[in-house]
Amino acid sequence: MTKSAITVSGLRKAYKDKVVLDGIDFEVGAGTVFSLLGPNGAGKTTTVNVLTTLMKADGGTVRVAGHDLATEARAVRAAIGVTGQFAAVDELLTGRENLQLMVDLSRVPARDGERVVTELLERFELSESAGKPTSTYSGGMRRKLDLAMTLVGDPSIIFLDEPTTGLDPRSRHTMWSIIRGLVADGVTIFLTTQYLEEADQLADRVAVLDQGRLVAQGTPDELKRQIPGTHVRLRFTTAAELDAAARVLPDAAADPEALTLRVPGDGGTKSLRALLDRLDEYSLSAEECSVHTPDLDDVFLALTGHTAEVAK
Ligand SMILES: Nc1ncnc2c1ncn2[C@@H]1O[C@H](COP(=O)(O)OP(=O)(O)O)[C@@H](O)[C@H]1O
Ligand SMILES: [Mg+2]
Repeated sequence: MTKSAITVSGLRKAYKDKVVLDGIDFEVGAGTVFSLLGPNGAGKTTTVNVLTTLMKADGGTVRVAGHDLATEARAVRAAIGVTGQFAAVDELLTGRENLQLMVDLSRVPARDGERVVTELLERFELSESAGKPTSTYSGGMRRKLDLAMTLVGDPSIIFLDEPTTGLDPRSRHTMWSIIRGLVADGVTIFLTTQYLEEADQLADRVAVLDQGRLVAQGTPDELKRQIPGTHVRLRFTTAAELDAAARVLPDAAADPEALTLRVPGDGGTKSLRALLDRLDEYSLSAEECSVHTPDLDDVFLALTGHTAEVAK
């Protein structure tokens, strides 16, 4: 991993006797997208609140942008931007006024303020509605404005707490491309989501939060490989070849209609090579070979024993 933007070790947080984070550890590489995945009530917002200095941890150590959260909270705040789960937009103000308010609160020099505001409105395609009160904005527009407000101070690390929950598919895709644009600019993104597809689409690494613990961590593909169900599918041209292959691969399940053989395996190169070598040994060759990995939904079910929908 490259330089670390966020390092969390043994983080604990309880509300009275309700333990929400029961000692979690993870690391976020600078310039990467890290996604904390979990159903409603899993503790995602609590994690964001602690990491962004809004709430004090009960235990553990956290470093954000090279600063210790416990002793250098001010330096942490200077490096980060936060877009909360519920849009922090002031409904009575216009889009432009909301952004201007952020400029006034930030360290952006006053003479640059107007340019910064105008650029952000353009970048998020909000220029046309900039003069209207945000109470008239759609959910998607509000989220975009909220994110634009987050970007005012040019933060190097951005926390996005469920940035697309409740958005229609089109607004969600717009948000995804905005997030990809930020990453291309070198920004580190800490993203929480209940959507497995979102983590799969955006994240370099994913951690699955369930009942106070991280039950799995890795790249989306690594997580998919951890659970049963990954298999290699071989397709043959004749039934005779299929039968011959089925005899030398006793674990495999044959589908005579499709002329395919389903071979359980982790989908890694080692097992794939062993499989191909075995075919070679018997002078067999498949017309087609593909690795099938389950999606993140399967991962969640396998790891937590319940689907991501359950806690909603
Ligand atoms: N201020 C609070 N006081 C007491 N309990 C809370 C508070 N905030 C959240 N909780 C509880 O902590 C758990 C985790 O909440 P939260 O971090 O908001 O989860 P998520 O963002 O993943 O939905 C939930 O059971 C929630 O009810
Ligand atoms: Mg939340």
